Amino acid sequence: MSRPPIYNAFMRMTPNHHSHGYWRTPEGSIQYRYNELQAYIDVAKTLERGFVDAMFLADVVGVYDLDYSHPSVAIRAGSEFPGPDPLSAISALGYATENLGFAVTSNIIQTHPFSFARQIGTLDTFTGGRVAWNIVTSYLSNGFRNYGYGDIAAHADRYAWAQEYVDVVYKLLEHSWEDGAVLHDAELDSFLDASKIHTIDHKGERYTVQGPHLVEPGPLRTPVLFQAGMSPDGRSFAVKNAEVTFLASVTPQAAKADIAALDEQSRAAGRDPRSLKKIVQLSYIVGSTEEEATRKREYYRENIDITALQAFSSGAYGIDFNAVDPETPLAEINKMATTGDHMRSILQAAIDANVGDGEQLTWREYLLDHALLPGRIAATPERIADDIQEWVEAGVEGFNVIPTTTLGYWDDWVDQVVPVLQRRGLAQTEYEPGTLRQKLFRQGDRLPAAHRARAIGLG
Ligand SMILES: Cc1cc2nc3c(=O)[nH]c(=O)nc-3n(C[C@H](O)[C@H](O)[C@H](O)COP(=O)(O)O)c2cc1C
Repeated sequence: MSRPPIYNAFMRMTPNHHSHGYWRTPEGSIQYRYNELQAYIDVAKTLERGFVDAMFLADVVGVYDLDYSHPSVAIRAGSEFPGPDPLSAISALGYATENLGFAVTSNIIQTHPFSFARQIGTLDTFTGGRVAWNIVTSYLSNGFRNYGYGDIAAHADRYAWAQEYVDVVYKLLEHSWEDGAVLHDAELDSFLDASKIHTIDHKGERYTVQGPHLVEPGPLRTPVLFQAGMSPDGRSFAVKNAEVTFLASVTPQAAKADIAALDEQSRAAGRDPRSLKKIVQLSYIVGSTEEEATRKREYYRENIDITALQAFSSGAYGIDFNAVDPETPLAEINKMATTGDHMRSILQAAIDANVGDGEQLTWREYLLDHALLPGRIAATPERIADDIQEWVEAGVEGFNVIPTTTLGYWDDWVDQVVPVLQRRGLAQTEYEPGTLRQKLFRQGDRLPAAHRARAIGLG
């Protein structure tokens, strides 16, 4: 059964996620609360009031510009620093809500897969099946150094590493415990049926894991699997593993072509393309009139810290931007040297699509409205709904909504935009009962039997 588009609130537990420097304004100062659990509980309740599908929690495990020996920029500006651990918040957020999903990012370098399977399996149970895992390979050199890996691993190696990592997690979550392993049978003197709980005996390139998995399976077993990979290796990984994937597409036309290519790749891999949801990230400044929206946009742009954004982009794209003149044409940026091991493909997609509709954007303009975004639009709820409609008509199945402030934005979204979307059939008006997988796919709690996680077995 089809459903209206998916909406996730794109968040990070940090002072500045996408709006670097805006914390200095009275409106942005709400970000002082980035470290308060209650602030995220408040957002979760607001999202649930608007039938938003999930809170999407991004995460990185390093500082952004350490490569270029001036880490003080990102640290001074609070640019994705500090960063409390999002996984630690999910139990509380789940307890405070009934239907909202939590798509949490955890990368392959930060936790051993045995521990991660234990953590996410516990959260599956404690939230009643409302967790998703955003699988990322990590792109910050400082992150790799924090875990003793010397420097960022080469791009292709990261995806091979990620495949082994997820395979270990699949074996633990899907195969270590058979259905029916829990007995609670005093007469048999068996809390559990030991014959149905297995070691996994994984021996691979990086990991050797005996098992069994330490956690009784939750309703999902494997969390809903999110992944964003724009490169050919990233795409192959998505087709093998993800249930929800992000497109790099900057326009609905580009999305249409990207979806067709991805669907073809899925079919070639023997996968039903409908089992992989394609979503994009969009960013809106909401105004009750066009004038108000424009005014808010100008105010917003005036208060962005370009120096901090340059430092942030340096870490993300693996290019030292700190000495780059912000008035440099975007096309020139493309020629700058990089190893290609960072998030270059996101910048590339924007340049290829000539963001700004043919006008020659400068690096400053790109940073203000497009850095890691398909473009920030200031508009009334009606015009935002028009925009969303275009993406939906292009075949896009959902959206990560990027706020201006991660904490303060959501009342505007829920009170002003959601009702318009609902009137147009572009947003759900109630939650489907059940787990996050059932809510998103309407096909049960478990992964389809053909999914790699189920098919892999313990052999
Ligand atoms: C919506 C979205 C969210 C992302 N969230 C994270 C994140 O939280 N942490 C992270 O390390 N990478 C994150 N990424 C980056 C991806 O994991 C990946 O590095 C990027 O899409 C480039 O893919 P590629 O290496 O296949 O080109 C995100 C990407 C997108 C599009």
